[in-house]
Amino acid sequence: MSAHPPLTAGVSRLGTESAFEVLGRARALEAEGVDVVHLELGEPDFPTPAHVVEAAAAAMRRGETGYCPAPGLPELRDAAARYLAAPRGLAIDSEEILVATGAKPFLMFAVLACAGPGDEVVHPDPGFPIYESVIAWSGATPVALPHPFDPERLAALVGPRTRLVILNSPNNPTGAVLAQSELRALEQILEGHDCWVLSDEVYARIVYGSPAPSVAALPALRERTLLVDSCSKTFAMTGWRCGFAAVPPALREPLTRMIINSTSCVPPFVQRAAVAALTGPMDAVDEMVRTFRRRRDTVVQGLAALPGVSCATPEGAFYAFPDVSGTGMSGAELAERLLVQEGVALLAGAGFGRHADAHLRISYAAAEPRLREGLARMGAMLERAAVQDRGRTAP
Ligand SMILES: Cc1ncc(COP(=O)(O)O)c(C=O)c1O
Repeated sequence: MSAHPPLTAGVSRLGTESAFEVLGRARALEAEGVDVVHLELGEPDFPTPAHVVEAAAAAMRRGETGYCPAPGLPELRDAAARYLAAPRGLAIDSEEILVATGAKPFLMFAVLACAGPGDEVVHPDPGFPIYESVIAWSGATPVALPHPFDPERLAALVGPRTRLVILNSPNNPTGAVLAQSELRALEQILEGHDCWVLSDEVYARIVYGSPAPSVAALPALRERTLLVDSCSKTFAMTGWRCGFAAVPPALREPLTRMIINSTSCVPPFVQRAAVAALTGPMDAVDEMVRTFRRRRDTVVQGLAALPGVSCATPEGAFYAFPDVSGTGMSGAELAERLLVQEGVALLAGAGFGRHADAHLRISYAAAEPRLREGLARMGAMLERAAVQDRGRTAP
């Protein structure tokens, strides 16, 4: 007999997020007394706005602590419909909205509902690692769409086996935003293909220039696009687990069954908090975005000053994705050395796809002094590495 009964092949194909692994290692270093600069987690370092917390507390006091309808409370479905529709110039009916425990269940459930063995799912690369993970788990083949977006590349990747195309703008980890002209090109290509589109727009409110255009607003794709958003990033509510999506009719009932089979519902008091978030004052969100913008500038300028490092300016989200190939090290090697030697926790680009070995992902959801400290430690390490290199090559 083996050490344990067998597991499925599918479960071994399920991936993970390197952020949680690096966080675990960073915490272990802290337990040994190391002062760690945390630049690994994709989570706003702001408190959930007070009126949102109060709405949840009031709902709990009223006794809203039982099961509730699986698609979501009518009030939240209504609020989410209006919240998603207004900035995109769309008409969204509250019936179209489903509520789940974050954006993540929508990613997993949509892939499972749309694709299986023999099918293909196109996903951004570099991209949020959960896409490739759940595609592989479903048995479908993940097809990487490289950054920057190139219509010809997409046209070559999409074919009769394509069941779903996943987009993420603003993007984690690059911070890039898809332009309207790029979305139009995408619309033309996908028009002739019988595939679903999932637009992960969890960073839609966190942009530093004009609003990010949405693929859901393109007439030819509107009917087959799942528009996914979440309270996690916009309202600093990562731990509350509340996401929402505008879901095309044919997928609504299957996705509702998946919610019933897995989590039943999002706790009603969390949904009350989400209603307060979506319909209440936005000053806390606006202030958070202004702060992220200042930090982005600090990080991009700081990275530009480091030897061998170059970084595109992120247009949204709160990540920088520098190319470190000029240092002579891969992203993975540099990330490892920064953690172990300097106590700087950040992520190797490789965790985000096949086209990202030369990159690091830096989350600037950290206070400005810590960002400066992290950059200073990176600079000191790269300077030492350059001196050692010169020592080795000296005659
Ligand atoms: C692109 C992207 N989509 C979805 C999620 C997950 O969001 P949620 O907390 O709502 O499940 C994340 C979290 O990092 C993300 O970066």
